[in-house]
Amino acid sequence: MRTLRRSFRSSEPPACSRKRTTVRNIDFHSHILPGMDDGAENAEISAGQLTRLKKQGVDRVFLTSHFDFRRETPENFIKRRQSAYERLMEVYDADTMPEVFTGAEIYMARGIGELDYSGLELQYTDTYLIEFPREPFGTWMFDLIETLLFERKMRVMIAHVNRVTAAYKKDICGSLFDYSGLVFQLNCEAFHGLFVSDPLKGYNVSDLRFVIGTDTHDLEKRAPDYDVALKKLASGRLSYLRESIMHNNERFNKRIDKKLQG
Ligand SMILES: [Fe+2]
Repeated sequence: MRTLRRSFRSSEPPACSRKRTTVRNIDFHSHILPGMDDGAENAEISAGQLTRLKKQGVDRVFLTSHFDFRRETPENFIKRRQSAYERLMEVYDADTMPEVFTGAEIYMARGIGELDYSGLELQYTDTYLIEFPREPFGTWMFDLIETLLFERKMRVMIAHVNRVTAAYKKDICGSLFDYSGLVFQLNCEAFHGLFVSDPLKGYNVSDLRFVIGTDTHDLEKRAPDYDVALKKLASGRLSYLRESIMHNNERFNKRIDKKLQG
């Protein structure tokens, strides 16, 4: 049962055929805002995370605290996020830390197809980071993705897709990868291990759009590890992923720059 859904593959050229350029690195997924969720407990830890990310070669970071609409209204989340952001700014140092942008890691739950997403986007990108739920696969999840993509015309990024492929059967994940309109975020944890191995081995994904994120929560077990991913991605074996990640870093950087300049 390879295809649960019709194919949504586009005619975009394969990532490997795109022009190679030097781009600023973006961490698309982090829990750095102090006291927001199960991430940084205080602003000192936030500062440590940001300093470490900068040393690892990260230029821009999205602050994607957990958001679950069953527990909190978007308005309340945004209000809490604003005060956490202000606490972060008290220790922020532009010389030793990457640029920071707001965002949210939105938990996929029944009902989010109707949600008001204002302010929950990855700042300046009109893109929404959605996390698959921690429960067995249900077709409602694909229904929801189709609502967001095709009815609401939203730009959707799937959070830590390496965890989705670890949790669900291969035919389900193959169908997820058929939604070529999605951007897929890989956690840097997917590149841990002694050897270079392809976290998406066995999937036909060379023409899809990938980005990476550290999903950093602290300075210990879930500390920034962007450097690990960069090192592994330098391998020829992962060239298709590297090209896609570089291309999308550039694409998002341009979009952010345009909004910042406008
Ligand atoms: Fe996360």
